[in-house]
Amino acid sequence: MNLPLQAAIGVVLMAAAAGQTNSVQSLSPLPGVHQSPRTAPDLPAGYVGDAVCQSCHQDKVETFHRTSHYLTSRLPEKDSILGKFTPDANVMKTSNPELFFRMEEKDNGFFQTAVEGAAPFLESRTERFAFVVGSGGKGQTYLFWKGDDLFQLPVSYWTELGWVNSPGYRDGQANFARPIIPRCLECHGTYFEQIPPPLNHYRKSGFIVGITCEKCHGPGRDHARQFSTKSAPSTNPSMLNPARFSRDRQMDLCAWCHAGHGFPLQPSFSYVPGEVLDKYLRIPQPDPAAPIDVHGSQVEMLQRSRCFQQSAMTCLTCHNVHTVQHDLSEFSQRCLACHKPGSAAFPKQGHEAASNCIECHMPLQETNLIVFDQNGKKARPKVRSHWIKVYSEIVSPPAVN
Ligand code: HEC
Ligand code: HEC
Ligand code: HEC
Ligand code: HEC
Ligand code: HEC
Ligand code: HEC
Ligand code: HEC
Repeated sequence: MNLPLQAAIGVVLMAAAAGQTNSVQSLSPLPGVHQSPRTAPDLPAGYVGDAVCQSCHQDKVETFHRTSHYLTSRLPEKDSILGKFTPDANVMKTSNPELFFRMEEKDNGFFQTAVEGAAPFLESRTERFAFVVGSGGKGQTYLFWKGDDLFQLPVSYWTELGWVNSPGYRDGQANFARPIIPRCLECHGTYFEQIPPPLNHYRKSGFIVGITCEKCHGPGRDHARQFSTKSAPSTNPSMLNPARFSRDRQMDLCAWCHAGHGFPLQPSFSYVPGEVLDKYLRIPQPDPAAPIDVHGSQVEMLQRSRCFQQSAMTCLTCHNVHTVQHDLSEFSQRCLACHKPGSAAFPKQGHEAASNCIECHMPLQETNLIVFDQNGKKARPKVRSHWIKVYSEIVSPPAVN
């Protein structure tokens, strides 16, 4: 590492220690990488933010900042809100002729307005977008502040449909009363400082949006300091590396957010990767015979699979969370690492020729947990099933000789 950069990191770290982390942004951004502001001034103890990691782990930061983990919550901006604000596309009608919503971009922010009644007796309520939740692969919902309390805005954006009623909202009603509980932000962000009551009360100057490096690796200040200065730190500077966790703790890391809502036993944002998740969150074991919804239940689905039960498989067998992965033929290579063609684990003729094992053995299925009620129609997004098995409705590939 060259010296000026080293000095720059030193300055950033000293600023971080003094609580002035906004100067983290003074490190030069990478071209083409999403670099909008992510944090309020007050970070939790020991956290430095991705810009500091970037100076030494540039390749990882660059690819990670394109993933849906990183993009899963953001501040409202032109490129983070996917819904359109142009005059032809900024109105959402409802099944109620006396209610429509209007989305507007102004100098001081982005706004949603519900307009109710019939002219000339129109009443309206306007709220400003405070946070964007959802990478937008499927869709996004939006939050607003009322004082120091966070609520969900009534209009969401769904990639296939445009502006829609927020999931679970009744079409034709203007509902601004849905509080945002900490567990929601724990799964969709790195950190929010909660100051209850009420449950949706947060400190406006204490958050880190998006899932960032330190969410999975723990606070990085001492680690970054050790490698940027010659003097040895007094505390253990190594980062948590999940590759060295036991299988159960690796599963716990992903189960923190991919095993359903659960019941918090400790305050949200207190779990540290590598610890036993059971002590923080009670995740009820589903009745083995009961159906599980595909949305957000990848852990339970995978645990039902014979692949998982009869091998040492974890989520990391197929996923590298530092990079965007959507190539199904590449995923199929992971299947073939265990199901070697010609071996006993691969008894079916014809399968060797299939470049895509996924569509048949991990099909997309509709979720019943995210339902949009829109103009009398109900829309249910599709999620990849993680129960790897033979689906009776799907036929085998033809044998090739
Ligand atoms: C000044 C340079 C520098 C900065 C800043 C830095 N790292 Fe590192 N990091 C390193 C070096 C060098 C290694 C390899 C050390 C080793 O092999 O023991 C490393 C190793 C790691 C490891 C693997 C640790 C292990 O025990 O296997 C992780 C995870 C990691 N860094 C994450 C981060 C995160 C997250 C940040 C930002 C909070 C960060 N690093 C900031 C230089 C840095
Ligand atoms: C969603 C959780 C998660 C996030 C967020 C995350 N990592 Fe990791 N990281 C892992 C896991 C799991 C491993 C071990 C398996 C692997 O290497 O993929 C790992 C391993 C590493 C390693 C050591 C192995 C190697 O390839 O050198 C480094 C360094 C690292 N991560 C840096 C980062 C940096 C920098 C960021 C932010 C840009 C980041 N990670 C964000 C989960 C995460
Ligand atoms: C702090 C919560 C959290 C943790 C921990 C976490 N995830 Fe996620 N993950 C999410 C959320 C939220 C999304 C959906 C983001 C979106 O699209 O807005 C997601 C999305 C994903 C996706 C879809 C990526 C895409 O591009 O479609 C994969 C794959 C994934 N996670 C794997 C993992 C694995 C593997 C682990 C464990 C190493 C893990 N996650 C840990 C919250 C988490
Ligand atoms: C237990 C963790 C968890 C909680 C709590 C949670 N989510 Fe999610 N959410 C996820 C995961 C994981 C995904 C993506 C994977 C999937 O669909 O299985 C997701 C997907 C989404 C998406 C779609 C993102 C996209 O583009 O694909 C939105 C929007 C969303 N969640 C909003 C919310 C809101 C708003 C709340 C709280 C009111 C919430 N979620 C609560 C974990 C969670
Ligand atoms: C880590 C190794 C491993 C990986 C990776 C793996 N499997 Fe398996 N799989 C197994 C084992 C072990 C069994 C159980 C074999 C037995 O019972 O004879 C199995 C069983 C199966 C079965 C039969 C399931 C049933 O309920 O009858 C199917 C189908 C299958 N795997 C498909 C896949 C596909 C498709 C992939 C990739 C998406 C994959 N596997 C990845 C190890 C693996
Ligand atoms: C045998 C391989 C395999 C394993 C193991 C695996 N996944 Fe996946 N996962 C996939 C494939 C394939 C996709 C589909 C990718 C795509 O369509 O872009 C996927 C997609 C996802 C998605 C996006 C779902 C959606 O439809 O939006 C999430 C979230 C996810 N995985 C999380 C996990 C978690 C958490 C674990 C561990 C419990 C896990 N995965 C284990 C292969 C695997
Ligand atoms: C066109 C759909 C399709 C594709 C593609 C496909 N499979 Fe299958 N697979 C099936 C069906 C259906 C069965 C069970 C019926 C049969 O053939 O006896 C099966 C059976 C299996 C079994 C044996 C399960 C058992 O114990 O009976 C394994 C293992 C398996 N597939 C793995 C794979 C792998 C790995 C790939 C990718 C190289 C793949 N499959 C591609 C549909 C498919």
